[in-house]
Amino acid sequence: MARLDGKIALISGGTSGIGAATARLFQSEGATVVVTGSSQASVDKARAELPGVEAIVSDAADTGATKALVDRVKASHGRIDVLFVNAGIARFAPVERVDEEFYDSQFDVNVKGAFFLLKHAAPAIPDGGAIILTASVAGASGGLPGATIYGATKAALRSFGRTFAKELLPRGIRVNTISPGPIVTPILDKNGFTAAQKDAFIAGAATRIPLGRTGTEAEVAAAALYLAADATYTTGAELFVDGGLIDI
Ligand SMILES: NC(=O)c1ccc[n+]([C@@H]2O[C@H](COP(=O)([O-])OP(=O)(O)OC[C@H]3O[C@@H](n4cnc5c(N)ncnc54)[C@H](OP(=O)(O)O)[C@@H]3O)[C@@H](O)[C@H]2O)c1
Repeated sequence: MARLDGKIALISGGTSGIGAATARLFQSEGATVVVTGSSQASVDKARAELPGVEAIVSDAADTGATKALVDRVKASHGRIDVLFVNAGIARFAPVERVDEEFYDSQFDVNVKGAFFLLKHAAPAIPDGGAIILTASVAGASGGLPGATIYGATKAALRSFGRTFAKELLPRGIRVNTISPGPIVTPILDKNGFTAAQKDAFIAGAATRIPLGRTGTEAEVAAAALYLAADATYTTGAELFVDGGLIDI
């Protein structure tokens, strides 16, 4: 029997990168998987790349759309056994170049989006279900230059993970957080880096990471599967998938 046989999984930000790799893995373990993305184009692309996965346009920053998403999944599938709160954006700039639009865009998607998905989805999660959040080493480490806002959004997610875990204890719903280190995904093409900056980021990261390389989407997906299916005695935890960056 596969590890997620008969389970319904909702993955926000599942059209690319970590979310898409997790969708593939969860599906291969028997789950019925629903993913979200922000645009029709990315959702159409995901439908082509993830056969059998249901892909829905739902802007994480729009709390009304998030409620409608949960209602739709509940109407079609009855419940959400595994919720992976993963949608996120990353923008980097020194403090003097941060304006309100820059600040709000990241807090709206990464923090408000995550909170209202958790709030709206929690009633649809049966007792004993699992929630996984994607934070980042950027929310836990001494800080990356240019990541003041992104790091703060991810620090908020780490806090959500612990507090939601306590609130949902009476229902036996486990809530855990994954904090990836640098993972090569399409996010590196969306954050304003030039190709040269992207290459320098990957090479620089590899020199700082104890395991000597950046991580892969599949390695984060494996952590998500562990927390979704196997980690039955684990809640309120944070799993760093970062090549040892934070811990050693
Ligand atoms: N890659 C890393 O090094 C790294 C490290 C630590 C943490 N993370 C976190 O991991 C998560 C996944 O990132 P990734 O690296 O896999 O990047 P990615 O490939 O860019 O994936 C981001 C996902 O989030 C979705 N998304 C972004 N804005 C959205 C919105 N407003 N509404 C709905 N969906 C939205 C994207 O969908 P669309 O394409 O449709 O917008 C996409 O599916 C993020 O939370 C990120 O902060 C990444």
